[in-house]
Order: sequence, then C-alpha cells, then structure tokens
Amino acid sequence: MASVPSLASSVNQRVADALASALPEAGGADPLLRRSDRADFQANGILALAKKAKANPRELAATVVEGIPTGDLIQEIEVSGPGFLNITITDRAIIETLAARAGDDRLGVPLAANPGTTVIDYAQPNVAKEMHVGHLRSAVIGAAMVEILEFTGEKVVRRHHIGDWGTQFGMLIQYLLEHPHELDHKSDEEVSGEEAMSNLNRLYKASRALFDSDEEFKTRARARVVDLQAGDPETLSLWQRFVDESKIYFYSVFNKLDMDIQDPDVVGESGYNDMLVETCKLLEESGVAVRSNGALCVFFDDVKGPDGNPTPLIVQKSDGGFGYAATDLSAIRDRVGNLNASTLLYVVDARQSLHFKMVFETARRAGWLNDEVKAVQLAFGTVLGKDGKPFKTREGETVRLVDLLDEAVDRAASVVREKAQDLTESEIAERAAQVGIGAVKYADLSTSAARDYKFDLDQMVSLTGDTSVYLQYAYARIQSILRKAGDARPAAHPELALTPAERALGLHLDHFGELIAEAAAEYAPHKVAAYLYQLASLYTTFYAECPVLKADTPEQVENRLFLCDLTARTLTKGMALLGIRTPEKL
Ligand code: ARG
Repeated sequence: MASVPSLASSVNQRVADALASALPEAGGADPLLRRSDRADFQANGILALAKKAKANPRELAATVVEGIPTGDLIQEIEVSGPGFLNITITDRAIIETLAARAGDDRLGVPLAANPGTTVIDYAQPNVAKEMHVGHLRSAVIGAAMVEILEFTGEKVVRRHHIGDWGTQFGMLIQYLLEHPHELDHKSDEEVSGEEAMSNLNRLYKASRALFDSDEEFKTRARARVVDLQAGDPETLSLWQRFVDESKIYFYSVFNKLDMDIQDPDVVGESGYNDMLVETCKLLEESGVAVRSNGALCVFFDDVKGPDGNPTPLIVQKSDGGFGYAATDLSAIRDRVGNLNASTLLYVVDARQSLHFKMVFETARRAGWLNDEVKAVQLAFGTVLGKDGKPFKTREGETVRLVDLLDEAVDRAASVVREKAQDLTESEIAERAAQVGIGAVKYADLSTSAARDYKFDLDQMVSLTGDTSVYLQYAYARIQSILRKAGDARPAAHPELALTPAERALGLHLDHFGELIAEAAAEYAPHKVAAYLYQLASLYTTFYAECPVLKADTPEQVENRLFLCDLTARTLTKGMALLGIRTPEKL
C-alpha cells in the first residue's frame, strides 16, 4: 500500500524549489499550479513572488525556468504572458506514474496526513412515518461521505438519529393499548417492509381520528405521554413495538437502496433521554441558557423573528418537556465526550439550518465544540418534480420513496432489456436494480448537495449525458474489451509515445488521489461524480481515436489495455464510493 505522488504534486515540488532558489531572500512562493489547455499545467505563482520581491516577472520567470531540470518528468517548460509557466509532462512520466498507481490496491491514493474521527449523522427517518425523498437525500449523500472519508483513512462513526420520541407517541401507544392485537404478526411469517408500514399507517390514521373526535381519548393519550416520559415499563414496551415495526420498514427501504445500515448505529432521539436533565443543568449553571417565561432558552444577537424580537433556542419548554434541541445538544456531548469525535457532520435538509446554527453556537458557548472539535451541517436542498415545484404526487401528496425506487428499477429494466441480447431474465432483474438504484443515487450526488434538484426519471436512466448508466456502460465496455483481448494482457510501456487522447486520459487518471482529498475536505461527493463523468468522457474519446486490440504493435496493444484497465478500476472504485455498482456486463 504505497501512495503515489501525483504528477501535479511532483511538478509543484520542482517549481517550488526553483522559485525558492531563484530568489532565496524572498522565502519562496506557492507555484499556483493548475491544469491548463495550453500545456499540461500552468504555474501562475511567479507574479506574486515578483511583486513581493519587486522583480520583473518575465525575467524572474526566465531564471526559474533555467533552474528546473527537464527530460525525466518535465518535457518542456516555457514562459508565456506576463510571467506564466506552461509545463508539458513527458509521456514516460505519465505512464510510469500510472503504472505505480496500478500496482497499488488503493490506486496510489494517499491517506490523509492527520486523520481524525468523524461522527456522521445521516439516514434518519421518523418512526411510524413513511420515508420521503428528503430521507433519500440524507441517506445517499451521507453514505457517500462515509465511504469517501473512510477511504482517506478517517475513522468514521455512523449515527442514524431517527425520530423515535415525542408527544405523538402518546396517541399511538394509547390506541395500541386499547386495541392490543393491532400490531400482532402471524407468528412464523416474516413481515415485509411494505406490510409493516401499512400497519403503522393504519394505526396512525385510526388513532388520529379518535384523538380528533373523542375528548376522553385525547385526555388518555396526553396522560400516556407523561407515562412514557416517566419511563413506565408497560408504556415503554408498547413504544418499543412501534420502533421495531418501523425498523422492519426502514431496513427494507435501505435494502432496496443497496445500503448497509447496522442496528448498533441506529441511535435515535430516545437514545439521549438520560442526558437531557444534565445537559440543561450544565447550560443553565454556566449561564449559556437562561429562564424566560419558564422556558430554558439560549439567545443570539443575530437570530430574530419577523417582529424583530430575538428568537431563542428553546432547550426546555415551560412545562418541563424537552424537544429536538435538547436532544441534539445531548447528542453532541455524547459524540464528543464518549465517541471522541473531532468532527461532527450532519447530513440534514437545508430547511433545518437555523436549528443547527443555534445548536452549534450553543455547544460552542458551552465549550463542547471548540478549536479541536468542529461541527458542520452538510445541508442539502429540496427535491423538485419535473415542473420545478417541490416533489408531490398528482393528488398533492408526498411521494412515497418506495414507489419512486420501484419505478426507477422498472424504467431501468426496459433500458437493460433493450440493450442486452444475451442476458437471462434473472440477470436482467439484477442489472435493472443496479442500474435503477444507481441512477437515483447518481442524480442526487451529481449536483452539489446545497442545490435543489429535479427528480426526472427519464433523464436519470438515459444512456447519454451525465448519468450513472453512461458510466456503467463505459465500465462494461472496457470489461468486454478486456475479455476479448485473449492472450494480450494490460501492461505499461513507458517507452511509447502517447497520442493526445491517451495523454488526456492518463493525466485525468493521475488526478484521482487529489480529487478524493478535495471531495473529503469539502464534503463534496458531487466532485467525485464530476470526476467520473469526465473520466468516462475522456475514455470515450480515447476509444474513438485509439484502436486498442488493433493497435499497431503488441506493445501498444498492451499499453492501451493498461489504460483501459486502470480506467475501469478507477471507475469501479469511484462508483463504489458513491454507493453505485458497476456490473461486468450490461
Ligand atoms: N429525523 C429528522 C427528520 O426527518 C432528521 C434528523 C436529523 N438529525 C439530527 N441530529 N437532528 O427531519
């Protein structure tokens, strides 16, 4: 497991050394290297250094160029414009660097220099409620961040902060108590997720109807909330049945999403009940929170309501009840104090940003967050329908996530069936799931999380454009070439001259490690998606311009197979980070 320095970082080092020795008294400068259309890289750092040292930039550039050795890594280096350096890499260095990557399981991607522990809060649906597209976003983006961070060597602890507590349970529990067989299962049969959810829906509707029409039931339901909060065993065991029934449903959806959610990581709101009193005490004693009309509140200078009065974060209500904020503050204490987190990452809808802003600021004032421990909300936008309005059914109801996923898989099945002549029905079904679910995930991950995005199944399963299907096809095509190669094996030949399409593909392949570091640091899985799309596009150009199996010499065949193989491995790895499968055949 050797990490391979990228071409960019090797070039950067050379230029930095030359900048430092050209003007030793100026103390060096960042070369500001970037990919460029004119050459392979352009370095713009000379301008700043010249300014600092009051030197002529073009003259300085000429001195710097003299100090940079060429031949092995750098083919050519020339000064352009006011003092930019245009740098071209040797073909040899490209293939040699890629060969070193190919020899490594991690494709040469370095581990982070100072990994920490990130607790990531994602995939957090609510008990006794249907999952919707918002829960999909949190799950998909969160799972991708888990993989990306782990790939950089970060220790990741998953937390599924499910909504499993609150006054709404009084009504449900009371109803179940009065209709004790409503959640019974036929003993030896396993309940499907679908059935579990329909049981919960039925109970929810029935208890709601009673609650709204029957004053006495309402009173009993309210008393039940008090019993629940007091930890009455019978009440708790009924509550547990709702949680268990919901988990059957959640797991069935996560399973459909091809997502691995582990029970010990499901620590819902109720998991922090024991800490709530202490949290309030700490906040009140330190003066971070104050009593206002009986409620325990935290005030902020910059958070005001429409009337201009400050809107506080309410940690404890005047009736003594605790809400969402008290739970989240307690969860912070747990994650920092017991799980030793250095970063808390919350993958939650942007509409909860004010809540997190206030919660984080409160935790900072209390000293639970500080320079060593930071908290970040990876806030995501709303899922819109094709019409650009929040995603609803024709009847104006929230779309059930399961229906959406099923439809995506159906559409994918027809795409797969149309393309594949030699697949059996069960293979088609398997591919359809991989393509359909991949399409939904990719559509979510390929725009930056903060933006709203349109849920458009036709576009998602399209074979062309920025879709996962396009990437999966690129991968499958490479596999088919590798199968057809017969005795020819992928092998790097650094002595060969490269075509422009080979160079472009090679330079992009080499950028994978830096891209991962960037996506991890910025919590930006969409950068991985954009990288992969460009990789597939560059591969398509390469494939169109460079015959692989019919190349001129056996060495060239091997070298091109080598580029194909490394492209395929990079695609699979990148897609896996996004939670998307790459079938061998499509
Ligand atoms: N269950 C919440 C919802 O469905 C999301 C929970 C987010 N996480 C948190 N720690 N508050 O909106």
